[in-house]
Amino acid sequence: MSPSKSADLHTDPRLFAGVDVYAVAGNPIAHSKSPGIHQAFAEQAQQKIHYGRLQPDIGAFAEAAKSFFAAGGKGMNVTVPFKLDAQAFAEVLSTRAQLAGAVNTLWMKEGKVFGDNTDGAGLVRDLLAQGIAIHQSRILLLGAGGAARGVIGPLLDQAPKCLVIANRSSAKADELVKLFADLAATKEVALESRTLAELEDSKKTPYPFDLVINATAAGLVDESPLTIAAASNIFVPSSFAYDMVYGKSTAFMQQALQKGARVSDGLGMLVEQAADAFLLWRGEAVASVIDPRAVLAKLRS
Ligand code: ATR
Repeated sequence: MSPSKSADLHTDPRLFAGVDVYAVAGNPIAHSKSPGIHQAFAEQAQQKIHYGRLQPDIGAFAEAAKSFFAAGGKGMNVTVPFKLDAQAFAEVLSTRAQLAGAVNTLWMKEGKVFGDNTDGAGLVRDLLAQGIAIHQSRILLLGAGGAARGVIGPLLDQAPKCLVIANRSSAKADELVKLFADLAATKEVALESRTLAELEDSKKTPYPFDLVINATAAGLVDESPLTIAAASNIFVPSSFAYDMVYGKSTAFMQQALQKGARVSDGLGMLVEQAADAFLLWRGEAVASVIDPRAVLAKLRS
């Protein structure tokens, strides 16, 4: 990233003397809702911050992050495709960021770059705020990429009855089951893997699910990871289908609606993960004054 590109995107901290500067980094980034969400939290907390957008070239995240923090940047949110680069960039990682294998929040403290991952906590809080019980529930997680991995730890922490990870190819789902086996055992959760094809077979997946979370990239190309047969097998009217994608009713959500299930997109997760990042940066003291559900309601209106 050249300094001029940074300035164009209003994220060069040297341009905002006396104001703490934050940014979201991704590629593409023009349509990110993060600046508006964080400004809304700052208003609720009666604080003045500047929050801009950074679009490093692919492969140039570390260089962009280094110049941002060197120029006085206080904190950075990180989105697709840089969450793994952000993990490599952080000097001190939280346990949940290590388990998630990715970082979505960076900040500077005592001369060191800290990294955390608030995605899973954001998902859990959005589900609970929507009245969805996770404890003792049967959960199906679709996908085994970075988005899925980021939420497994926080879901297991809520001690569901079972968590089934289903992916097109079994190897990645098997790997995640191995990685989280100890945490699942501690929480007494039956953690299993399936291929997406096995979801069609009522002998291999013999029960419907209370909660089905789509963490695949299928929605981005207007597809559902589920065949009609699989959707018939796993959804009942009491199911809740959650798509991490936001801003549209996806093919996955449509399938769930057809089976009488309730659905949600991932906008609440976006707002809740941002709230956690805001608290990491601005201090827990503002937890009582920021109101993520009000920010979400405004975004939906
Ligand atoms: P992310 O970090 O967003 O999770 P990723 O690591 O590329 O991105 O993972 C994408 C996930 O979506 C994977 O689980 C992928 O399945 P494979 O491991 O089999 O590739 C899944 N995925 C992508 N497109 C899909 C589709 N059309 N149907 C089903 N699963 C899909």
